[in-house]
Amino acid sequence: MAVSYKELGLVNTREMFAKAVKGGYAIPAFNFNTMEQMQAIVQAAVKQKSPVIMQVSKGARNYANGTILRYMAQGAVEYAKELGCANPQIVLHLDHGDSFELCKDCIDNGFSSVMIDGSALPYEDNIALTKKVVEYAHQHDVTVEAELGVLAGVEDEVQAEESHYTKPEEVIDFATRTGCDSLAISIGTSHGAYKFKPEQCTRDPKTGKLVPPPLAFDVLHAIEKKLPGFPIVLHGSSSVPQDEVDTINAHGGKLPDAVGIPEEQLREASKSAVCKINIDSDSRLAMTAAIRKYFDEHPEHFDPRQYLKPARENMQKMYEHKIV
Ligand code: G3H
Ligand code: 13P
Ligand code: ZN
Repeated sequence: MAVSYKELGLVNTREMFAKAVKGGYAIPAFNFNTMEQMQAIVQAAVKQKSPVIMQVSKGARNYANGTILRYMAQGAVEYAKELGCANPQIVLHLDHGDSFELCKDCIDNGFSSVMIDGSALPYEDNIALTKKVVEYAHQHDVTVEAELGVLAGVEDEVQAEESHYTKPEEVIDFATRTGCDSLAISIGTSHGAYKFKPEQCTRDPKTGKLVPPPLAFDVLHAIEKKLPGFPIVLHGSSSVPQDEVDTINAHGGKLPDAVGIPEEQLREASKSAVCKINIDSDSRLAMTAAIRKYFDEHPEHFDPRQYLKPARENMQKMYEHKIV
């Protein structure tokens, strides 16, 4: 039997994006796969009195089970109330949906927002698929994120060798013909903890750390001019904090030359029509860093609560920092 997100106490993105674009800020969209991530996201959002988007990839559904994730999102709403938030503004969003059937399944099972990622398809096919998802989603008051332009990088479910920036000249036609509610664009971000090859970066002479090239703000501004006030989404926006990478490497990890998007650039982008910033890798790094450190320092411990507690605390700190 179908379940509406409204019964679960969730909200769609329409109102929160309108406020974010007007207010010149962005709402973080955190991927989650585990209970500890969910708890940390809710604690951070309540503490910062912020709306939040909790997103689930196809891989997360395969890992944790779609039904369980949906109940976790419902649990997130109830947990936020328990923590003192009278009216939680929490979105359950499908990240990188790759078919109409997957989007429909999520809409029928309590998601308040879905992404249909047709960015790897030819332009007209992307439009046709996105439009089909929008028509179904809007019948259920579910909002739809679409994507135009291709991000570089490799993730389990998302693969692209090269980035192709979004073409500003296509966005009006795309948004109008699909009816999508927000648009993910490509301006140089990419998924994962290795967003740039070392040869694309310079090196800080003092620290030896990689300094990435700037995002294509000219492309972002050209898109904004074409679609004033239209909600824009940035994927692949983890900052890959160097202290987390250093902790991981100091405790047996091997993440050489991991590099992300500098926070100043994300802050700059969020003053524009960018109103959703996707973060997954930073949560993975925060969790892994805390667990590696804990294992190194407490080789005699084996109760998962002992090492998942600091992992959860470290993620919460990171989420809070992102929300500010
Ligand atoms: O954009 C991709 C997200 O980071 C989700 O990654 O497919 O490994 O769950 P995943
Ligand atoms: P990061 O890999 O930069 O965290 O990006 C996550 C993302 O875009 C999820 O859709
Ligand atoms: Zn993404």
